[in-house]
Amino acid sequence: MQVIHTIAELRAALADQSSAFVPTMGNLHEGHLSLVRQARAAAGTGPVVASIFVNRLQFAPHEDFDRYPRTLARDAELLQGAGCDYVFAPAEQELYPEPQGYKVQPPTALADILEGHFRPGFFTGVCTVVHKLFNIVQPRWAVFGKKDYQQLMVIRRMVAQMALPIEILAGETTRNAGGLALSSRNGYLSEAELAEALRLSATLKTMIARWQAGERDLAAIEGEAEAALRAVGWAPDYLVLRRRLDLGAPTEGEPLVALAAARLGNTRLIDNLEF
Ligand code: PAF
Repeated sequence: MQVIHTIAELRAALADQSSAFVPTMGNLHEGHLSLVRQARAAAGTGPVVASIFVNRLQFAPHEDFDRYPRTLARDAELLQGAGCDYVFAPAEQELYPEPQGYKVQPPTALADILEGHFRPGFFTGVCTVVHKLFNIVQPRWAVFGKKDYQQLMVIRRMVAQMALPIEILAGETTRNAGGLALSSRNGYLSEAELAEALRLSATLKTMIARWQAGERDLAAIEGEAEAALRAVGWAPDYLVLRRRLDLGAPTEGEPLVALAAARLGNTRLIDNLEF
């Protein structure tokens, strides 16, 4: 496996090969590695590329850009073990040699709700860097985790609308034994918070159980879930039941998804469960 820092070197290494690509911000965990293994299976004998780049454009000024862990040496070892061939780890100057004036602006209906509502500009930052990385790597497949459910949808739509010749593959969320979705931000949690964090997926399960038992008072299901978390010290942004298709309000007989974002101490956690 090779660690490459420049666009020119990566393009020369990949030439015209059909690659599978996993974009990341590093500080990798088993969830990322399962995406890399999925990329490995998709690529067959072709190369697997993972990028590691903490993308300033998707962080608001008050967010954790500066303290986001940079762990390249350890990440590279893990990637090698998972079957990655090339790690693309550009410096900020390489990807943004001048202020990025051209941006990819996703449609508000999908990008300004939920995550986009609480993190204005987040999906513009994500789409801009992912589009740029796609242009650099020119992969045949790209793998995104369902853990970032809305991100996966936004990227799928971008690829479809921009007619990019890339197949987007969705990776299942990896959880610890207690059900906590793995996330690079779990590293910010104390021991006590790690135990408490299990409550997020448990609360989503309660919401789903109420819906599946026939309750249709969405405001009550969502509001009571929020209140339950607030009562034990969480600061929820949203706990909602939505249609999988477009994250609109649930409709009968359609596949649904429960989504949550909530702050525990100083750490913002997100999770979702399809049902
Ligand atoms: O999901 C992430 O880690 C990031 O949003 C991504 C897709 C690597 C873009 O910076």
